[in-house]
Amino acid sequence: MMQIYERLLASVDSIRRKTDFIPAVGVVLGSGLGRYADEVEAVATVEYKDIEGFPVSTVMGHRGRFILGYSDGVPVVVMAGRVHYYEGYSMPEVVLPIRLMGMLGAKALLLTNAAGGVNGNFRPGDFMLITDHIAALVPSPLIGPNPDQLGDRFPDMSSAYDPQLREAIRAAALAEGIPLQQGVYCQFTGPAFETPQEVRMARILGADAVGMSTAVECVAANHMGLRVCGISCISNLAAGISPVPLSHQDVFDTASRVEPLFRRLVRESVRAVYKEL
Ligand code: HPA
Repeated sequence: MMQIYERLLASVDSIRRKTDFIPAVGVVLGSGLGRYADEVEAVATVEYKDIEGFPVSTVMGHRGRFILGYSDGVPVVVMAGRVHYYEGYSMPEVVLPIRLMGMLGAKALLLTNAAGGVNGNFRPGDFMLITDHIAALVPSPLIGPNPDQLGDRFPDMSSAYDPQLREAIRAAALAEGIPLQQGVYCQFTGPAFETPQEVRMARILGADAVGMSTAVECVAANHMGLRVCGISCISNLAAGISPVPLSHQDVFDTASRVEPLFRRLVRESVRAVYKEL
């Protein structure tokens, strides 16, 4: 997909005209989880709308900017507000920002999201370290001509969520006394929440949480050789498990309520991940 690669180069160029900052860790902040960005000692902030070729996000609660700077001394690029497939972008567009962070120099990527709990042991407000994902229900972001400059046609996904980074995050959470569940994240396209039967299906397939992002980002990041880790904030119990109807407002409110603790987990995870690079 030469067009996508050229678009990517244009977007890298837009950022490089503003800053020569080289991040080591990329962080993607999910719905209601954006405040971590405020704690980063910013060197440069770039609005998505000022990046050539960039798909601009519209969903409520998303601010749409990259923050480049230091998080406890770790050079990071933070994506506050992600691009979702359900907004109408193509999958290659959805993962363009991920590839962009890799092109800027990030070696590792921490993906976060708000997700619905499918595992019966989960409670709203729990945090879940992502051990693996199911992306088989959404189109692959790698469909189309392979941009060989980025990676292989058939990338290996055996350790899509880097075992060493996962262990580092588990240790950091334990040291901080932050409870951390772990499990498999299953991506749906959205924007409708799942039906109860779809949630049962996801459970049968081995999912512990369901959401509308992240897995395809992990695919694109693995494709270009980034080391990936991810944490879900279980903002609600998924449909059929939850006794009440789901709403984006409730998802957003729960994520926002536990966000201060989540932010601490993200901060400590970034430190822990950096030490492993
Ligand atoms: N389903 C899908 N996406 C979500 C959910 C959910 O229950 N909660 C937060 N994002």
